[in-house]
Amino acid sequence: MPKYKELIFASHNKGKISEIKNLLSPLGIKVLSGEDLNLPEVEETGTTFEENAYIKALAAAKEKNIPCIADDSGLCVDAMGGRPGIYSARYAPNRDFDKGIEKLLNELAETNSNNRSAHFSCVIVLANPNGNYKSFEGRVDGRIATKKSGTMGFGYDPIFIPTGFNRSFAEFDRDEKNKISHRGRALQKFITYLTTQDEYNV
Ligand code: IMP
Repeated sequence: MPKYKELIFASHNKGKISEIKNLLSPLGIKVLSGEDLNLPEVEETGTTFEENAYIKALAAAKEKNIPCIADDSGLCVDAMGGRPGIYSARYAPNRDFDKGIEKLLNELAETNSNNRSAHFSCVIVLANPNGNYKSFEGRVDGRIATKKSGTMGFGYDPIFIPTGFNRSFAEFDRDEKNKISHRGRALQKFITYLTTQDEYNV
Protein backbone atom coordinates (compact mmCIF):
# COMPACT_ATOMS: atom_id res chain seq x y z
CA MET A 1 0.00 0.00 0.00
CA PRO A 2 1.21 3.53 -0.66
CA LYS A 3 2.99 5.10 2.25
CA TYR A 4 1.98 8.58 1.21
CA LYS A 5 -1.12 9.90 2.96
CA GLU A 6 -0.68 13.35 1.54
CA LEU A 7 1.10 14.77 -1.48
CA ILE A 8 1.47 18.27 -2.81
CA PHE A 9 0.89 18.78 -6.49
CA ALA A 10 2.78 21.96 -7.32
CA SER A 11 0.40 23.27 -9.96
CA HIS A 12 -2.05 26.12 -10.35
CA ASN A 13 -3.79 24.53 -13.35
CA LYS A 14 -7.34 23.69 -12.26
CA GLY A 15 -7.85 21.00 -14.92
CA LYS A 16 -4.68 19.13 -13.96
CA ILE A 17 -5.40 19.50 -10.22
CA SER A 18 -8.87 17.94 -10.43
CA GLU A 19 -7.54 15.15 -12.67
CA ILE A 20 -4.82 14.17 -10.21
CA LYS A 21 -7.09 14.50 -7.16
CA ASN A 22 -9.58 12.11 -8.82
CA LEU A 23 -6.87 9.57 -9.57
CA LEU A 24 -5.15 9.61 -6.18
CA SER A 25 -8.13 9.83 -3.81
CA PRO A 26 -9.13 6.14 -4.38
CA LEU A 27 -5.60 5.29 -3.15
CA GLY A 28 -6.26 7.16 0.10
CA ILE A 29 -3.86 9.95 -0.84
CA LYS A 30 -4.96 13.50 -0.19
CA VAL A 31 -3.65 15.92 -2.79
CA LEU A 32 -2.99 19.53 -1.86
CA SER A 33 -2.35 21.82 -4.79
CA GLY A 34 -0.24 24.92 -5.33
CA GLU A 35 -3.60 26.70 -5.48
CA ASP A 36 -4.77 25.30 -2.08
CA LEU A 37 -1.47 26.24 -0.42
CA ASN A 38 -0.86 29.55 -2.15
CA LEU A 39 2.51 28.33 -3.37
CA PRO A 40 4.44 30.93 -5.35
CA GLU A 41 4.77 30.24 -9.10
CA VAL A 42 8.33 29.07 -9.84
CA GLU A 43 10.29 30.17 -12.88
CA GLU A 44 10.82 27.29 -15.31
CA THR A 45 14.51 27.70 -16.08
CA GLY A 46 15.24 24.11 -17.13
CA THR A 47 16.07 22.90 -20.62
CA THR A 48 13.98 19.70 -20.54
CA PHE A 49 10.49 18.73 -19.38
CA GLU A 50 12.08 16.69 -16.61
CA GLU A 51 14.24 19.55 -15.36
CA ASN A 52 11.31 21.95 -15.27
CA ALA A 53 9.09 19.45 -13.45
CA TYR A 54 11.92 18.79 -10.97
CA ILE A 55 12.47 22.52 -10.34
CA LYS A 56 8.76 22.97 -9.53
CA ALA A 57 8.44 19.81 -7.42
CA LEU A 58 11.63 20.47 -5.41
CA ALA A 59 10.75 24.12 -4.68
CA ALA A 60 7.38 23.03 -3.25
CA ALA A 61 8.91 20.07 -1.35
CA LYS A 62 11.47 22.36 0.30
CA GLU A 63 8.87 25.00 1.11
CA LYS A 64 6.49 22.50 2.77
CA ASN A 65 9.00 19.86 3.86
CA ILE A 66 7.02 16.94 2.42
CA PRO A 67 7.28 15.01 -0.90
CA CYS A 68 5.77 16.91 -3.81
CA ILE A 69 4.88 16.22 -7.41
CA ALA A 70 4.90 18.54 -10.39
CA ASP A 71 4.57 18.07 -14.11
CA ASP A 72 5.76 19.72 -17.28
CA SER A 73 4.42 19.10 -20.74
CA GLY A 74 4.33 20.42 -24.26
CA LEU A 75 3.97 19.84 -27.96
CA CYS A 76 7.03 18.93 -30.05
CA VAL A 77 6.76 19.34 -33.83
CA ASP A 78 9.39 17.40 -35.81
CA ALA A 79 9.66 19.76 -38.80
CA MET A 80 10.18 22.64 -36.34
CA GLY A 81 13.10 20.89 -34.63
CA GLY A 82 10.93 19.83 -31.69
CA ARG A 83 9.58 23.31 -30.99
CA PRO A 84 7.69 24.72 -29.19
CA GLY A 85 8.48 21.88 -26.71
CA ILE A 86 9.18 23.20 -23.22
CA TYR A 87 8.12 26.66 -24.45
CA SER A 88 4.61 25.52 -25.51
CA ALA A 89 2.75 27.69 -23.00
CA ARG A 90 4.93 30.76 -23.66
CA TYR A 91 4.80 30.25 -27.46
CA ALA A 92 1.15 31.37 -27.53
CA PRO A 93 1.02 35.20 -27.54
CA ASN A 94 -0.50 36.28 -24.18
CA ARG A 95 -1.34 32.59 -23.57
CA ASP A 96 -4.04 32.96 -26.25
CA PHE A 97 -4.10 29.51 -27.85
CA ASP A 98 -6.15 30.60 -30.88
CA LYS A 99 -3.20 32.85 -31.67
CA GLY A 100 -0.71 30.16 -30.66
CA ILE A 101 -2.30 27.67 -33.05
CA GLU A 102 -2.29 30.20 -35.89
CA LYS A 103 1.36 30.99 -35.17
CA LEU A 104 2.28 27.29 -35.16
CA LEU A 105 0.42 26.54 -38.41
CA ASN A 106 2.17 29.49 -40.08
CA GLU A 107 5.58 28.50 -38.78
CA LEU A 108 5.08 24.91 -39.93
CA ALA A 109 3.97 26.13 -43.39
CA GLU A 110 7.11 28.28 -43.62
CA THR A 111 9.32 25.22 -43.19
CA ASN A 112 7.98 23.98 -46.58
CA SER A 113 8.11 20.48 -45.14
CA ASN A 114 5.48 17.82 -45.78
CA ASN A 115 6.37 16.24 -42.46
CA ARG A 116 3.54 17.06 -40.04
CA SER A 117 4.51 14.53 -37.36
CA ALA A 118 4.52 15.70 -33.75
CA HIS A 119 4.15 14.42 -30.22
CA PHE A 120 2.99 15.62 -26.84
CA SER A 121 5.28 14.82 -23.90
CA CYS A 122 4.65 14.99 -20.20
CA VAL A 123 7.02 14.31 -17.31
CA ILE A 124 5.79 14.00 -13.73
CA VAL A 125 8.44 14.31 -11.04
CA LEU A 126 8.04 13.19 -7.43
CA ALA A 127 10.66 14.99 -5.31
CA ASN A 128 11.69 14.81 -1.67
CA PRO A 129 12.84 17.90 0.25
CA ASN A 130 16.33 16.32 0.32
CA GLY A 131 16.51 16.48 -3.50
CA ASN A 132 15.92 12.78 -4.26
CA TYR A 133 13.45 12.33 -7.08
CA LYS A 134 11.81 9.90 -9.45
CA SER A 135 10.31 10.78 -12.83
CA PHE A 136 7.53 9.27 -14.96
CA GLU A 137 7.25 10.05 -18.65
CA GLY A 138 4.33 9.81 -21.03
CA ARG A 139 4.18 10.52 -24.73
CA VAL A 140 1.58 10.43 -27.48
CA ASP A 141 2.54 10.55 -31.16
CA GLY A 142 0.46 12.11 -33.88
CA ARG A 143 0.37 14.76 -36.56
CA ILE A 144 -0.50 18.43 -36.93
CA ALA A 145 -3.77 19.00 -38.79
CA THR A 146 -3.97 21.67 -41.48
CA LYS A 147 -6.81 23.41 -39.64
CA LYS A 148 -8.51 23.41 -36.25
CA SER A 149 -11.37 21.08 -35.34
CA GLY A 150 -13.27 20.29 -32.15
CA THR A 151 -14.15 22.31 -29.08
CA MET A 152 -13.05 20.14 -26.13
CA GLY A 153 -9.70 20.04 -24.36
CA PHE A 154 -7.31 22.97 -24.25
CA GLY A 155 -4.09 24.38 -25.71
CA TYR A 156 -3.07 22.81 -29.01
CA ASP A 157 -5.71 20.04 -28.88
CA PRO A 158 -7.69 21.34 -31.92
CA ILE A 159 -4.72 20.74 -34.27
CA PHE A 160 -3.27 17.53 -32.81
CA ILE A 161 -4.46 14.25 -34.38
CA PRO A 162 -3.17 11.23 -32.43
CA THR A 163 -1.80 8.32 -34.48
CA GLY A 164 -4.51 5.79 -35.33
CA PHE A 165 -7.31 8.37 -35.29
CA ASN A 166 -8.84 10.76 -37.78
CA ARG A 167 -9.94 13.42 -35.34
CA SER A 168 -8.20 15.96 -33.18
CA PHE A 169 -7.74 15.75 -29.41
CA ALA A 170 -10.37 18.51 -29.15
CA GLU A 171 -12.86 15.94 -30.45
CA PHE A 172 -12.07 13.49 -27.61
CA ASP A 173 -13.93 13.66 -24.32
CA ARG A 174 -11.79 13.89 -21.19
CA ASP A 175 -11.79 10.19 -20.25
CA GLU A 176 -11.12 9.08 -23.81
CA LYS A 177 -8.21 11.52 -24.10
CA ASN A 178 -6.77 10.53 -20.68
CA LYS A 179 -6.50 6.89 -21.79
CA ILE A 180 -3.98 7.71 -24.53
CA SER A 181 -2.65 11.15 -23.68
CA HIS A 182 0.90 11.97 -22.62
CA ARG A 183 -0.34 13.14 -19.20
CA GLY A 184 -2.62 10.12 -18.76
CA ARG A 185 0.27 7.77 -19.58
CA ALA A 186 2.71 9.53 -17.21
CA LEU A 187 0.06 9.45 -14.46
CA GLN A 188 -0.56 5.75 -15.02
CA LYS A 189 3.17 5.06 -14.56
CA PHE A 190 3.17 7.15 -11.39
CA ILE A 191 0.13 5.32 -10.01
CA THR A 192 1.68 1.95 -10.86
CA TYR A 193 4.76 3.03 -8.90
CA LEU A 194 2.63 4.11 -5.92
CA THR A 195 0.62 0.90 -5.88
CA THR A 196 3.32 -1.68 -6.56
CA GLN A 197 6.29 -0.59 -4.43
CA ASP A 198 6.63 -1.82 -0.85
CA GLU A 199 9.27 0.76 -0.10
CA TYR A 200 9.87 4.01 -1.91
CA ASN A 201 13.33 5.37 -2.41
CA VAL A 202 11.86 8.82 -2.89
P1 IMP B 1 2.60 23.25 -18.57
O1 IMP B 1 2.86 21.76 -18.58
O2 IMP B 1 1.51 23.62 -17.63
O3 IMP B 1 3.86 24.04 -18.45
O4 IMP B 1 1.98 23.65 -19.99
C1 IMP B 1 2.42 23.15 -21.16
C2 IMP B 1 1.72 23.73 -22.36
O5 IMP B 1 1.78 22.70 -23.35
C3 IMP B 1 0.24 24.05 -22.19
O6 IMP B 1 0.03 25.39 -21.90
C4 IMP B 1 -0.28 23.75 -23.60
O7 IMP B 1 0.03 24.81 -24.43
C5 IMP B 1 0.58 22.59 -24.05
N1 IMP B 1 -0.06 21.32 -23.71
C6 IMP B 1 0.34 20.43 -22.76
N2 IMP B 1 -0.49 19.38 -22.71
C7 IMP B 1 -1.44 19.63 -23.63
C8 IMP B 1 -2.60 18.90 -24.02
O8 IMP B 1 -2.95 17.82 -23.52
N3 IMP B 1 -3.33 19.47 -25.00
C9 IMP B 1 -3.01 20.65 -25.58
N4 IMP B 1 -1.96 21.37 -25.24
C10 IMP B 1 -1.17 20.87 -24.26
